[in-house]
Amino acid sequence: MDPVKPLNLRGFLIYKSLLSPAEQGVILDDIRGVIKQAPLFSPITAWGKPMSVGMSSAGRYGWYSDRSGYRYERKHPNGTPWPAIPQSVMRIWSAVTDCARAPDCCLINHYTEKARMGLHQDNDEQDFSFPVVSVSLGDEGLFRIGGTERKDKTESIWLSSGDVCVMGGSARLAYHGIDRIRFGSSALLRNNGRINLTLRVVD
Ligand code: SIN
Ligand code: MN
Repeated sequence: MDPVKPLNLRGFLIYKSLLSPAEQGVILDDIRGVIKQAPLFSPITAWGKPMSVGMSSAGRYGWYSDRSGYRYERKHPNGTPWPAIPQSVMRIWSAVTDCARAPDCCLINHYTEKARMGLHQDNDEQDFSFPVVSVSLGDEGLFRIGGTERKDKTESIWLSSGDVCVMGGSARLAYHGIDRIRFGSSALLRNNGRINLTLRVVD
């Protein structure tokens, strides 16, 4: 892991291929361990529809959604605390940020062939001076980014396995989402699909 000058797309800092295939393998094994303890589930949106993305979390907090809205919870819906964030993932945070604080949530998003994530802002955290760091593993995902208003012009970039994106500064509250997955474009995951990790400081 050797962060060189990232691509700067409207303040989104994109480190292409930051993680070597070996590093991706280690992280994936660690995430499989997390999911064994905290299985993926499909959160329900505030509008009562299940999300197409499977989710789980590691850390002191996990992101959760149901008809009452979006929030962070201390426990998995099965009632157990979330597993710790693996060191292999913490190392990415240290490599691409200069934050004194470690993240307290690693949200795990799992995309199968038809899954997508609508344009949204990450705004359930208390202090937006901390960035959100996103890690892509497996199949490529078409990442759409905009500005801080939903109506702002957007542009898209394919994120590939091993890419890391830092959403901080002017991009911290920018709209973003995943339009589609290039299913089968990576051999990292046994059954294809994409895993995205987002590291967040919550409170
Ligand atoms: C997210 O915004 O939580 C996920 C973005 C991604 O999957 O790349
Ligand atoms: Mn997000």
